[in-house]
Amino acid sequence: MLPLWLRIVTGAALASAIPTVHHHKAKTPAFFLAGDSTTAVDGGWGDGFLAPLISPAWGVNIGKSGATTASFVAGGYWSNVTTHLKENADKYDCYVTISFGHNDQKSTSGVTFEQYQQNLINFAKEVQSLGGTPLLTSSLTRRVFPSGQDHNATDSLHDQRLAAIAAAEATDSTVIDLNAASLKYVNEIGKAAAQEYNYGDDKTDTTHLNPWGTVVFGRMVIDLLIREKPSLESWFTPNETLSNALWNGIPA
Ligand SMILES: *[C@@H]1O[C@H](CO)[C@@H](O)[C@H](O)[C@H]1NC(C)=O
Ligand SMILES: *[C@@H]1O[C@H](CO)[C@@H](O)[C@H](O)[C@H]1NC(C)=O
Ligand SMILES: *[C@@H]1O[C@H](CO)[C@@H](O)[C@H](O)[C@H]1NC(C)=O
Repeated sequence: MLPLWLRIVTGAALASAIPTVHHHKAKTPAFFLAGDSTTAVDGGWGDGFLAPLISPAWGVNIGKSGATTASFVAGGYWSNVTTHLKENADKYDCYVTISFGHNDQKSTSGVTFEQYQQNLINFAKEVQSLGGTPLLTSSLTRRVFPSGQDHNATDSLHDQRLAAIAAAEATDSTVIDLNAASLKYVNEIGKAAAQEYNYGDDKTDTTHLNPWGTVVFGRMVIDLLIREKPSLESWFTPNETLSNALWNGIPA
């Protein structure tokens, strides 16, 4: 029989150990961001997504400016993603955002639409085979408005959005429908407000994001992710003011 004080101490230690085991459904999350410049550091949403993460959750922005689904592999960026998965899948709940299309869709890309579709599927399958969770993230909308149509931005990534959704269906994985949400948002706030997120001092770059645009659309991805995976909510510092603006069509 243990002395009373030891039984109390042991009991207290057990009681405090049990909630930590069951509190989060799984391990601490880690996020590896695969994509083109609309995800990358300096112009993409990726850093705005990672910044609110609460330690020990962490992530790496592996987005690459100019990348197609083919050049991302050829340039060694995809192997960076898979290396991170191999090194971390046992210790962390690993998620990989996959967001391509802006460059694949160019006639000079050397990637057909069919190859692009297949490459998205291959990325998702490889993430799964390495113990990670793919998040097929449809392309951030461009903020191009035809003249006289200030609430009707050109839907220039329509087919790429459908490819991301199809890749998720083919691999039984999750869609983060950033294209639909960002297009809806810029149409609600209108052309002038949407140009406030444009990259560069002259604000003429309607594809890439300035530092505030990174925060705004990074938050949009966080909110979309939490809708799909509610257990992840506790790992992100909330910004209710910003989320409220995003989902009520108010310029942020
Ligand atoms: C992987 O990508 C990150 C982010 O761009 C970079 O810091 C790191 O050096 C890369 N690692 C390798 C092995 O290329
Ligand atoms: C939006 O623009 C598209 C063409 O880009 C056009 O077909 C459509 O009618 C427009 N919608 C509205 C409500 O003006
Ligand atoms: C939260 O969003 C508001 C605007 O919606 C912004 O002013 C503020 O700086 C944001 N806070 C952080 C920590 O990003």
